[in-house]
Amino acid sequence: MEIILETKDIKKTYLFDKNKEQEVLKNINIKVKKGEFISVMGPSGSGKSTLLYNMCGMDRVTSGRLVFEGNDISGYSENEFSKLRLERIGFIFQHVNFLKNLNIFDNIALPAYAAKIQSRKEINKKAEELMEKTGISETGEKDITEVSGGQLQRAGICRALINNPDILFGDEPTGALNSKYTNDIMDIICRINKEGTTVLLVTHDIKVASRSEKVLFMKDGSITGEYYLGKYEGELKGREEKLSEWLMKLDF
Ligand SMILES: Nc1ncnc2c1ncn2[C@@H]1O[C@H](COP(=O)(O)OP(=O)(O)OP(=O)(O)O)[C@@H](O)[C@H]1O
Ligand SMILES: [Mg+2]
Repeated sequence: MEIILETKDIKKTYLFDKNKEQEVLKNINIKVKKGEFISVMGPSGSGKSTLLYNMCGMDRVTSGRLVFEGNDISGYSENEFSKLRLERIGFIFQHVNFLKNLNIFDNIALPAYAAKIQSRKEINKKAEELMEKTGISETGEKDITEVSGGQLQRAGICRALINNPDILFGDEPTGALNSKYTNDIMDIICRINKEGTTVLLVTHDIKVASRSEKVLFMKDGSITGEYYLGKYEGELKGREEKLSEWLMKLDF
């Protein structure tokens, strides 16, 4: 199967206290296949968010290479990475960073206006559709301070999907949601995955991870385990148990 994104020996080192180094990512090699749905789990501080940021160029690797659809993109400029993210990648942030002077609807639609791939009419239709699916149709005209944390997170999910990304990243995409909305959001994510979008999520939630095809376990900056659950076909039964058992063996 075709690889959409690959990391080759990527490392990320942070400097702290002026001259001390912390290796947050240690020689990470991941091959993400087109259409795959991967979850990344692991203890707090193990480097999961850093991994996602470095895989999409929001943060720059210290060494190693990034390959997107067969092209080495490690040397991309900030502009090239921005264009790639805008047109091909969706990112659901743990903490939504919307613009204060735009209402919810315009914040969701903004990346589509900027990408200029779809017409205004298509963008508005797509935004309305996404808002309906995530249960926030009523919030479009509202200011970002006038909605709840859960509504804001759902709006962040709409924004990540507005340009029909080929690959969707999510850093704890359901972290601020109750179980009903977590399920609804996961239904949406699973549906777009079925339609062909590749998905890579960081999550602490076994319910969320059990929907994925493969789970990677991260510890101290390395991928220390990989568990293949197989494609989710709408039946969760047994998957959570299998995953919990595996995680227990890893002492997580
Ligand atoms: N900008 C930064 N400068 C210095 N150190 C950083 C920076 N960002 C992250 N770190 C360090 O890198 C390590 C990994 O952080 P990261 O946020 O990737 O962990 P995580 O696995 O996502 O944790 P959590 O589950 O709590 O979100 C931590 O020790 C953190 O302190
Ligand atoms: Mg994190």
